This record gives sequence, structure tokens and C-alpha cells, in this order.
Amino acid sequence: MSNYIKLMNNFDSLKLSTFRTNIDYFIDEVNNDKATLVDALYDLTNKELEFRQERVNRAMIVTSHFPFVKTFDDYDFSYQPKLNKDEILDFKNLRFIQNNENIVFMGTPGTGKTHLAISIGIESAKNRYQTYFINCNELILQLKKAKLENTLARRLKHFTSYSVLIIDEVGFLPINAEDSDLLFQLISMRYEKHPTIFTTNKSFSHWGEIFGDSVIANAMLDRILHHSKVFQIIGPSYRMKGKEELFKEE
Ligand SMILES: Nc1ncnc2c1ncn2[C@@H]1O[C@H](COP(=O)(O)OP(=O)(O)OP(=O)(O)O)[C@@H](O)[C@H]1O
Ligand SMILES: [Mg+2]
Repeated sequence: MSNYIKLMNNFDSLKLSTFRTNIDYFIDEVNNDKATLVDALYDLTNKELEFRQERVNRAMIVTSHFPFVKTFDDYDFSYQPKLNKDEILDFKNLRFIQNNENIVFMGTPGTGKTHLAISIGIESAKNRYQTYFINCNELILQLKKAKLENTLARRLKHFTSYSVLIIDEVGFLPINAEDSDLLFQLISMRYEKHPTIFTTNKSFSHWGEIFGDSVIANAMLDRILHHSKVFQIIGPSYRMKGKEELFKEE
């Protein structure tokens, strides 16, 4: 067996798949004096590191449980001109995680609340912050189940441990006071510890009705808003893009 074949086998044993894929190119470069051995090895190791980083990114994104994968690059800011693009893009720096700052996207349907929350979540997941996306009603169902099974404390601790938690669609369905209290407990536990991103279609003045108890709603809002950035997106639904004519008065 030639040393070249043995080298390939070594790459397989060491799980250096990018070395295996790119080695021929670099052997030719070195043989033709287009690169030194040091340059070639440096480029080869860089490719392997990039490949591994990409693999970690993909795994982090999968475990974050996003319903769809959309980034800031996919968001057409010209469609929502009132939204401060620079302020939104600054979330890429993840300062909100260091500052334990909550983010609320409030607004009408199809304005990209979930899209933007996911875009931020993808950035945090790619930077290896444990990130999790969950629909508000699903979260409450899970907490209710845990309470029935006497495992509520553990479940609350679990959801508190995420560096970034995205709670989508707060207020889409009303929640009774007993269930609202479960959400309140989670928000209290995450308060000043880890940031939470919320999307909602209801303004804060309606949270008392949504949560069936204005005292709980106020206590929740107090903690959410103490350190927070709130974005109101009131504009046309992107889902209706190109269909605006159908809604014009005769
Ligand atoms: N400005 C935009 N640029 C590009 N795509 C957008 C924009 N706004 C929304 N979208 C797309 O439109 C669809 C609906 O957006 P999204 O689900 O984020 O809306 P939403 O505000 O969460 O709506 P809802 O209140 O109904 O949950 C998604 O596919 C999203 O990627
Ligand atoms: Mg949404």
C-alpha cells in the first residue's frame, strides 16, 4: 500500500474529512512551487476548522428547535420602514445577552416578529449560547404537565437554564390565572439571569385580559420590561405581499 493511501486511511481514522477532500489540490500546489508546505498545511487546517465550526453551528441551530430558519439577511427592512434597522442588526453583537436584556416584538400579523426573534436566536446559537424556541401555549402545557407530575421545579429550572429563550405568540390565546402563574414563575426565575425574547400581537394594556389577572400580568410586565428593548411593528403583513390590491375599497 502506498504512503498516499495510508495517509488517506489516517485522515479517515483521525476524522479529518476536509484534509482528505482537499489534500490533492495542496499536494499539486506544493509540487508546482505555488505554495510552501507551511502555507498548504495552514490552509488545510483552516478549512478543517471552518468545517467543524459550521457543523457545531448546524447542531446548535437544530437543538434550538426553531420552526423555520430565517436570518437577518432574509429580512426586507424596506417593507417595514419604521423599524430601526441598525438597532435590530446590533443584536448580532449579542450585547443583550451580556446585559440580560429582554426583547419584545409586538405587532400585527405577518410583520416578521417570529422571523426576527429566530434571526437573533440563530446568532446566539451559532455563538454557542444555549438557545431554545417555544410557542407560549406549548410552554404552558409543558409546565402544567410538570406540575401534575410533581416535577415543576425541575422543569422551571430547565427552562431557566437557557442562555436565550424565545417565547413566541404570547397572548394569541387567553390563559387562565392559574396557568399564567406558571409563566410568571419562569419569568421571575429568568429575571436578571438570562434574557428572554417575546413575540406578541397584543399591546401591554391587554395583558391583564390575556392572563386572566391584572396583578399577575403587571408583575410579569414589571420583570420583562425592567431591562428590555421593545419593538412595535405595525405595518402590512409580508404574507400579503403582492396581494394588497385585493384589499382596496371599490
Ligand atoms: N420584512 C420581511 N422581509 C422578509 N420576509 C418577511 C418579512 N416579514 C415577514 N416575512 C416573512 O413572512 C412570513 C411571516 O412572518 P412571521 O411569521 O415572522 O410573522 P409574525 O409577525 O410572527 O406573524 P404572526 O403574528 O402571525 O405570528 C415568514 O415567512 C417571514 O420570513
Ligand atoms: Mg409569529
